[in-house]
Amino acid sequence: MQAAIPRLEIRNLKRRYDGRAVVDDVSLQIMPGQVTCLLGPSGCGKSTTLRMIAGVEMQDSGSIYVDGKLICDTNFRVPPERREIGLMFQDFALFPHLSVADNVGFGLKTMDKAARRARIEDLLERVDLKRFVDGYPHQLSGGEQQRVALARALAPRPRIMLMDEPFSGLDNRLRDEIRDHTLTVLKEEDTAVLLVTHEPDEAMRMADEIALMRDGKIVQQGAPYNVYTRPLDRASVSFFSDANVLHAEVSGALAQTPFGRFLAPGVPDGTPVDIVFRPQHVRIDFDRGGKGPVPTATDGTAARATVARARFMGNESLVEFVMDYDGSTLKATVPNVFLPQPGAVMWLTIRRDRCFVFPVASRSTS
Ligand SMILES: Nc1ncnc2c1ncn2[C@@H]1O[C@H](COP(=O)(O)OP(=O)(O)O)[C@@H](O)[C@H]1O
Ligand SMILES: [Mg+2]
Repeated sequence: MQAAIPRLEIRNLKRRYDGRAVVDDVSLQIMPGQVTCLLGPSGCGKSTTLRMIAGVEMQDSGSIYVDGKLICDTNFRVPPERREIGLMFQDFALFPHLSVADNVGFGLKTMDKAARRARIEDLLERVDLKRFVDGYPHQLSGGEQQRVALARALAPRPRIMLMDEPFSGLDNRLRDEIRDHTLTVLKEEDTAVLLVTHEPDEAMRMADEIALMRDGKIVQQGAPYNVYTRPLDRASVSFFSDANVLHAEVSGALAQTPFGRFLAPGVPDGTPVDIVFRPQHVRIDFDRGGKGPVPTATDGTAARATVARARFMGNESLVEFVMDYDGSTLKATVPNVFLPQPGAVMWLTIRRDRCFVFPVASRSTS
């Protein structure tokens, strides 16, 4: 059997501005029907990568392939309008003077009239807006305009959809619904999708695969579950959620902390390590006459702490503790309502199987 050919492949793309590499050797493959999210903080080079694939910006080096065919390298370049790539950006402005049907049919000028109308109606049906076919953009809500923009981008059956923070202009409640709907329509069309976002939640919700980008480089790539549960380093943990950190030093492949010892296999003696864990993996116990729970092999040792503040967040409560052992702050989240008084003494343990032990190059940088 022949190996499947990616719908989109970019190899070693590089782009410099003012001598600084903003996209630094980025490679990616996306199969038809696959949604890949390029996820990273603002300024890391996501939009520049997308613009090079769209063809509105030229790379300094590297190449781009669609269905195995070269469309752009430093010697050869298919112009943007012939790349069969659909675009959807945050500022998706519809043409205000054109009807909804003509907006959606904008890229279908060469199609005969009946086929064009059929394609327009089919897409509007699927984004649930057929009733607005002869309406105008100003008659639609923000979410509805967004769906028209999606239909417009999909109308010419692009092989690839590039989406740059397309949902960031929408309000929160609407956004989840539109994301899900958009995903359904994209999957039906079997396009390869590269979606750029700086929001981990959005990437987790939309992506088959996440490519985590930082300072112009893809630093980690994989299914959302793997990227979330096997983070590369402390920065990756913090990017997805609040993170707590303990500092320790390795001795005999173990890192000794106030919560007990953590395994640090293969890490040389004397290496400083960060032990990183998310607030939902902290367990809270009550004080029993000045004592906490008895240490166990699985839960380690409990550490004594004082409640600094507690906030109700809707589905969970966030409690901040000041630790007795060094005065540092740790955060814990607990489901539902849990609002202990500031000053209350409690004992914390950590879910050891959910901790990440990262060697630190130099303590001064952490
Ligand atoms: N045309 C340009 N000229 C100079 N610098 C640019 C240009 N476009 C983007 N940059 C810089 O490149 C970096 C990456 O930008 P961008 O790709 O827009 O990041 P992102 O989309 O991840 O927020 C930023 O530091 C930005 O200021
Ligand atoms: Mg951007």
